[in-house]
Amino acid sequence: MVDFKNIIAQELAKVTNIDTIEQYIEVPSNKEMGDYSLPCFKLAKELKKAPQIIANEIKEKLKLNEDIVEKVQVVNGYLNFFINPKAIINTVFEEVDAKKEQFGSSTIGNSKNIVIDYSSPNIAKPFHIGHLRSTVIGGALYKIYKFLGYKVTGINHLGDYGTQFGKLIEGYKRWGNEYNIEENPIDELTKIYVRINNLCKEDESVLEECRNNFKKLEEGDKYCTELWQKFRNLSLKEFQKVYDLLDVHFDSLNGEAFYSDKMGEVVNLLEKSGKLLESEGAKVINLEEKQMPPCLIEKTNGSTTYATRDLAAILYRARTYDFDKAIYVTSYEQILHFKQVFEVAKLLGLDEKYTDNLIHVPFGMVMLKTGKMSTREGNIIKLEELLNEAISRASTIIEEKNPDLENKEEVAKRVGIGAVIFNDLYNSRIKDEIFDWDTMLNFNGETGPYLQYMYVRTNSILEKVGKVEDISNIDISVLEDEASINLIKEIYFFGDIIKQAAMKDEPYIISRYLINIAKLFSTFYNENKIIIEDEKIKNARVYVTYCTNLVLKIGAKLLGIKMPEKM
Ligand code: ARG
Repeated sequence: MVDFKNIIAQELAKVTNIDTIEQYIEVPSNKEMGDYSLPCFKLAKELKKAPQIIANEIKEKLKLNEDIVEKVQVVNGYLNFFINPKAIINTVFEEVDAKKEQFGSSTIGNSKNIVIDYSSPNIAKPFHIGHLRSTVIGGALYKIYKFLGYKVTGINHLGDYGTQFGKLIEGYKRWGNEYNIEENPIDELTKIYVRINNLCKEDESVLEECRNNFKKLEEGDKYCTELWQKFRNLSLKEFQKVYDLLDVHFDSLNGEAFYSDKMGEVVNLLEKSGKLLESEGAKVINLEEKQMPPCLIEKTNGSTTYATRDLAAILYRARTYDFDKAIYVTSYEQILHFKQVFEVAKLLGLDEKYTDNLIHVPFGMVMLKTGKMSTREGNIIKLEELLNEAISRASTIIEEKNPDLENKEEVAKRVGIGAVIFNDLYNSRIKDEIFDWDTMLNFNGETGPYLQYMYVRTNSILEKVGKVEDISNIDISVLEDEASINLIKEIYFFGDIIKQAAMKDEPYIISRYLINIAKLFSTFYNENKIIIEDEKIKNARVYVTYCTNLVLKIGAKLLGIKMPEKM
């Protein structure tokens, strides 16, 4: 696609002798300020002149092709550039024609390796709403990076290790036949866990048994390992139902247990660094200099910690995936944990290429309109049920609005799940998310269903027309009205938007953009009849519709949302 910003930058560089001037060029949100704008106060220091004067001087000297830049304006020290709409329409149409379903994709990733650690629920414990957010955000980032040409590895760092497994084994040994863990693994295992925990509190010798079991598990004892494997498989099978509904996949299910034999090396390396300290029988890394509490590496009883396993995972991932960037998606409650781990990772002797590119991507809480969504016992929201509830609510709405729709079940699934995903990705991730059924399923709000509804509209137009004319037969000069031009200009930025979303690890940048596209299309559609006698105008407007259709579909797919073809 023609890079207008770069064209302008090259001319500006010639006039100002500032080679790096492109970085100062902005895309104003107010379209009255042009399509691109140069805030000249940023040059004032270097050029030792007032911004207004700089702007005027540059304008005088600039020689821009009028077929590309139609107008240059000086306003309050800003130099505003207006691109010739025809140039934008041309390049958008050509690019869409050439790339179709790949429109917006890029090769900037250059096959560089990205590993994304996401979802990562804990075995034998409920998959809670925080894990859902991690799954949805991580799943979106996975798709976004891939679309930009990165080689992405998705890792589900399962919480499948720890002393609680010694307890579960003990409980199961005692009362296993009273519980139907095959049928309902998470619930039943949770019950066993609560029961054995209570017994441990009463009877120290039981606790000793549990510790013993965990030790045996670490040593590879057959009975204990088989039971652990069983708990893991059954839990995964239950988690898989959620993954299927969300259509999320992982390339690796190496959880914490995978590192059980890889932590010795971490301890050795840290010892070698001379920074590992004994503290009341435990081994810690002091992080006072970094204004953080110490990072616990080995507990008094010799067992390792969540942090040690993360350190072992960093070593392993650096060696196995040679990552250019390792991303971790968890709630903000783990900000300190990752800060500590990333700091300690610098002591492992790894190349800085790795330790400089460990990135925690935190997100906020999920709140009900009425307050915090509790995951405390007795009030656990089961995610599979939540997603099914979304589907059933969508189904009720469809039944009201369009009872004769074919394929109703699949559509309800796409609308329901799409609504939940979109709601999750609509705000900057660090903000707390409000979970409210009526808001997220509102077809007229800034929601998943609204996007899907607009997409379906574009579909039905394209279907009615039956054929999208080849661009060589389209006369773009008939696209003169503001609504058409605004829409196409926004479509032009699709690729940039995807890159921004990746750069900031913020899928919401795409969500907001899609809402904007949908609104611009709505205006375009209200102001322009599309299926009309005049073939010339019709063909051009149909092509605009086709571009919109593609952008909505590709964008939604990057977020993990499937579009219904009809609804
Ligand atoms: N299992 C953890 C939890 O549920 C999340 C793991 C995140 N990933 C990691 N490498 N620590 O809180």
